[in-house]
Amino acid sequence: MSIKVYLTVTSVLIHSISATYFPPEVENHNISKLAYCQAEYPNPSSYKPMDDSTLLFVQAISRHGDRTPAYFAPKDTTIWDICPHKHYEYAYANTVPGVQGGVKIDTYTDDSDEASNMAGLYWKGNCFTGQLSRKGVNQMEAYGSQLRKVYVDKMNLLNKKLEKDTIRVRHTNVPRTLASAEGLMTGFYPSGTGGNTTIGFTSFPQEKETMYPNSLMCPRISQLGALMRTTPEYQSYFNNSYSDALRLNKILGYGSSVMANSTLGYRAFADVFWAIECHGKPKLCNEDTCITEDDIQLSLKNTLFELTYTRRLSPYADEYNKLTGGAFFSQLNTELAKQIDYDMHNQCAEKTNNGTVRMSIYAGHDETIVPMLAIFKTNNIEDYLVPYAGSIHIELWRNNTDKKYYIRALYNGNQISTLSDPTTNEPWCNLNKCDWNTYQKYLEQYIPKNIYQECKLVQ
Ligand SMILES: *[C@@H]1O[C@H](CO)[C@@H](O)[C@H](O)[C@H]1NC(C)=O
Ligand SMILES: *[C@@H]1O[C@H](CO)[C@@H](O)[C@H](O)[C@H]1NC(C)=O
Ligand SMILES: *[C@@H]1O[C@H](CO)[C@@H](O)[C@H](O)[C@H]1NC(C)=O
Ligand SMILES: *[C@@H]1O[C@H](CO)[C@@H](O)[C@H](O)[C@H]1NC(C)=O
Ligand SMILES: *[C@@H]1O[C@H](CO)[C@@H](O)[C@H](O)[C@H]1NC(C)=O
Ligand SMILES: *[C@@H]1O[C@H](CO)[C@@H](O)[C@H](O)[C@H]1NC(C)=O
Repeated sequence: MSIKVYLTVTSVLIHSISATYFPPEVENHNISKLAYCQAEYPNPSSYKPMDDSTLLFVQAISRHGDRTPAYFAPKDTTIWDICPHKHYEYAYANTVPGVQGGVKIDTYTDDSDEASNMAGLYWKGNCFTGQLSRKGVNQMEAYGSQLRKVYVDKMNLLNKKLEKDTIRVRHTNVPRTLASAEGLMTGFYPSGTGGNTTIGFTSFPQEKETMYPNSLMCPRISQLGALMRTTPEYQSYFNNSYSDALRLNKILGYGSSVMANSTLGYRAFADVFWAIECHGKPKLCNEDTCITEDDIQLSLKNTLFELTYTRRLSPYADEYNKLTGGAFFSQLNTELAKQIDYDMHNQCAEKTNNGTVRMSIYAGHDETIVPMLAIFKTNNIEDYLVPYAGSIHIELWRNNTDKKYYIRALYNGNQISTLSDPTTNEPWCNLNKCDWNTYQKYLEQYIPKNIYQECKLVQ
């Protein structure tokens, strides 16, 4: 399906916006809502090792799987009955395979629809807002099993049986990312392959979280958001899309704070519509008007515009990307630097007494991945619509001949192509093989030097 998008990807626009072009239109961008519902998994048959090089370490950063809407729209009449009854075999891993013992975790949601447990006052069904669905759990397990095919079966980076301390897992302090990490690990080391060990999960409190835009800790992030909405470019988008927003909101019934002129974003509409579409549930109606297929496309298109504006086109985009993605990149790069340091001194990756750390798994959100893609300067704007179970893999390689270190970054198992700099006409790096020094040096400009200072409100 071909739709118009208010964007173009010419470098002229990306690096300097001219109001006379705005909003520019291009015809040949297809957004598939089905592509949004399900990310492409890493594919073991098309996965190619880097020539003449050894894979040392991988950072796998993922978005959670399919979920219920994260926003609560009072007039959403959908029956949200898609939530899991799932037990995680993984908790068996601290026993000898086949021997019962330890703790088996069984997650379930209450299905009874009785007034006495307030069922139906909020939503119909068995889910809470932003909950990982059964489909979402299955997506994460499928993603984990593809990871296994690539990094265990094909690359031998990790042993077929889980060895102690070879994998680190971090998730945000949100139920759906914890459940996603559990699903992922269940697919990665299925029942019987857990060895005689446990795996540690960690998460940071919100006060320290770097895996999503943390405006609680960094008020400048909200201030930048507000500044971006006041530009003439954004105002013209806003004015053009306002009457549709009012129409759609009649059906969703968001209150004044979501609909306020200073905050309105189509994301809040898309959030509900897409959850409905990804489950083939009936489109919402109110009295005689119903959401149409065109409305779904409009919500996709406008959400993509909002993301592209805030992450790329706006004059504040660089600072916004820095404050929302820089601190996480700092942690990722510290971890990579440590691996390199170990490797240089021992010709092997970081060793603990118990094993060699080979992979770090980060279970996060679209807002974990979007700042990274924006900082990487992906040239495909549709990348900003991060599908459920979407992933970035950052691989650390050592060249067997010259012993130099290279980074390869993949998005949903595919190459990431980066924009050319308008002055040099060259991309900042080829992310299919980027030497570590170039990678690290480029990212440094996005890492806040003094985050406490840079996060303060600017008067
Ligand atoms: C969009 O989809 C149409 C119909 O499937 C196809 O002909 C066209 O090549 C696609 N355009 C792009 C840019 O992929
Ligand atoms: C598993 O680990 C426990 C505790 O470290 C140890 O006592 C036991 O012998 C191990 N079992 C096997 C089969 O390695
Ligand atoms: C948007 O609409 C507001 C209120 O109607 C108006 O004041 C403003 O000039 C418009 N801005 C643009 C860029 O059209
Ligand atoms: C909100 O913005 C729209 C479009 O610019 C405008 O028509 C409307 O009057 C504004 N509403 C308020 C309450 O400012
Ligand atoms: C290795 O495993 C032992 C026993 O489980 C644990 O006490 C120790 O802290 C581990 N060492 C490291 C470096 O992780
Ligand atoms: C590895 O290093 C050798 C020697 O510098 C070079 O010829 C080769 O292209 C490098 N291979 C890769 C994949 O970088």
